[in-house]
Amino acid sequence: MAEFDTVIRGGLVATASDIMLADVGIQGGVVTAVAKNLPAGRNEIDAQGKYVMPGGVDSHCHIEQPSSISGKMNADTFLTGTRSAACGGTTSVICFSPQRVGWKLADSTADYHERAKKAAIDYTFHLIVNDPNDDVMETLPSLIADGHRSIKIFMTYDSNRVTDDGVLKLMALARENEAFMVLHAEHHDMIKWQTERLLAAGLTDAKYHAWSKPGVVEREAVHRVISMSELLDFPCQIFHVTCAEAAEEIHRAQQRGVKIFGETCAQYLTLTADDMDRANGEGAKYVCSPSPRTPADIEALWGYLKTGVLGMVSSDHAPTNFAVASEHSSDLKLPDGPGTPFPKIPNGLPGLETRLPLLFNEGVTGGRIDISQFVALSSTNPAKLFGLYPKKGTIAPGSDADIAIWDPTKQVTIRQADLHHAIDYTPYEGWQVTGWPVTTLSRGKVVADGGDFVGEAGHGQFLARAPYDYIKPRGVFPSPFDPFAGQS
Ligand code: URP
Ligand code: ZN
Ligand code: ZN
Repeated sequence: MAEFDTVIRGGLVATASDIMLADVGIQGGVVTAVAKNLPAGRNEIDAQGKYVMPGGVDSHCHIEQPSSISGKMNADTFLTGTRSAACGGTTSVICFSPQRVGWKLADSTADYHERAKKAAIDYTFHLIVNDPNDDVMETLPSLIADGHRSIKIFMTYDSNRVTDDGVLKLMALARENEAFMVLHAEHHDMIKWQTERLLAAGLTDAKYHAWSKPGVVEREAVHRVISMSELLDFPCQIFHVTCAEAAEEIHRAQQRGVKIFGETCAQYLTLTADDMDRANGEGAKYVCSPSPRTPADIEALWGYLKTGVLGMVSSDHAPTNFAVASEHSSDLKLPDGPGTPFPKIPNGLPGLETRLPLLFNEGVTGGRIDISQFVALSSTNPAKLFGLYPKKGTIAPGSDADIAIWDPTKQVTIRQADLHHAIDYTPYEGWQVTGWPVTTLSRGKVVADGGDFVGEAGHGQFLARAPYDYIKPRGVFPSPFDPFAGQS
C-alpha cells in the first residue's frame, strides 16, 4: 500500500530559507516527507521545471464586508473570494469580521463564521472594532480566547474610525489578552479638511482622491500609532504602507527596538496616482486608500521590503464592481455615474488572485528579490506574524500540505475574463507577467489546476490562533512606570 496520498515529484522546493530539488510526500493533508526519490504515491504530480512553494497567506482581505464609504456589501462572497485566491496560489486568507452597527460583537462574529462556511481555503479573522463600547470591551477577551487573536482598527472613515483614546483602550485590552492589532493609519481630520477644500475648488474627479490624502497624512498617523504602541509596549502592524516617508517612520522605530511591523500591498508596488487620471471614469477603478503614489515610492517600498522593514505583501482585496452590479452587491465604483465626486467612490481594489503573480513578476522575474524572499513576503512572514506558523507558511514535515506549484516561465496576459472573482474588472487588464501558479493544493487537495478552480465550497476551515511568542511585548516602557503592573 502506498505510503503517500500524493507525491509532488521532481520540483524545486522553495521555502523562506532553502531551495532544494526534492519530492514532497503528503499523507492525510499534511506534508510527511521532503526528500529525493520518494516511493510512489496514490496520486503523482509532476513538478519538474517548477517551483514547489508554500501556498500564499494573504493576511489582509475584505470579503463580504460593507464598504467604509457606501456602507454597501462589497462584491465577493467567501466562495468567490477564496476560489480566486486559490487560483492565484493563495491557500490561507485572513479576512475581517466587522463589528456591525447595532449588533452585539458576539453576534457579528457568529454571523461571519456562518458566512465563511462557504470558503474554499482555510481562513481566519481580524476582528474590526469601530466602537469600543462596554459590550465590545466585555466580549473581546472571550472572542480572543476562541482564537480571534487580532483586532483591526481604522483611524479614518466617518463610519468606522476609532479615535486615539479608543485605540489606546483597545491596545491595552489586546496586550492583556495576548492579542495583536493591525491598523489603517491615516489622519482623518486632515483628509476631511483637504477634501472640503478640493470640493470647494471644483476638483472632484477620481484623481483628486490622491490629492486629498498625500503621504503626510499617512506618515503622521503611522508615527502616532508607533508612539502609542511604544507607550504601551504593545507590538502591532501598520497596514498598507504606501510611501517612503511612512516606511521611514517604521524603520526609525524598529532601529530603536520598537516591535512595530509593516506590510505593503501589490497595488502599491504596481500602480501610481496617475492611474486615477484615466478617461471615461475609468480612474475610479483605481481608487483605494491610502492612495497609490509615485514611481519613486514604488522603488522605495522595494528597498524596505528587501531590508525587512516591511515584512509582507498582502492584497487588501476590497472589491466593488465598476459598471455592473452583481447578485451579491448593488454597489458600484461610480454610484452617481461618470460625475461621481471622489469622496463617494467606494475605496478598494480586487486583488486576491493577482497578488502573487504581480509580486512574482515585479519581484522575482524583475530581479528585485530572490525566490526565498518571495516565499517569505507572500507566505512565511504573514504566517509567523499572525500565529499560523509552522502549520502554514512553510513546506516541512508536519506542516499542512498547502502548496502552490509555480511555472516561473509561464507568460500570462492578465484578463478579467480569466479571473475567478465575482467582480466585473481587474485593475491589471492587459498586464503581461512571467510566472504563474499552475496547481494549488489546500491540505493536500488540489483546489486549482491549469487555470481552473477545482475545489469546493466548504473545504476551508477556520484557523483558531492560540497565544504565540512572535508578538510578545518586550517589557520595555518609555518611563519607569509599568502601566499594566500599576507600578515601576
Ligand atoms: O481602499 C481600501 N483599502 N478599502 C478597504 C476598506 C473599506 O472598507 O473601504
Ligand atoms: Zn485600510
Ligand atoms: Zn484593507
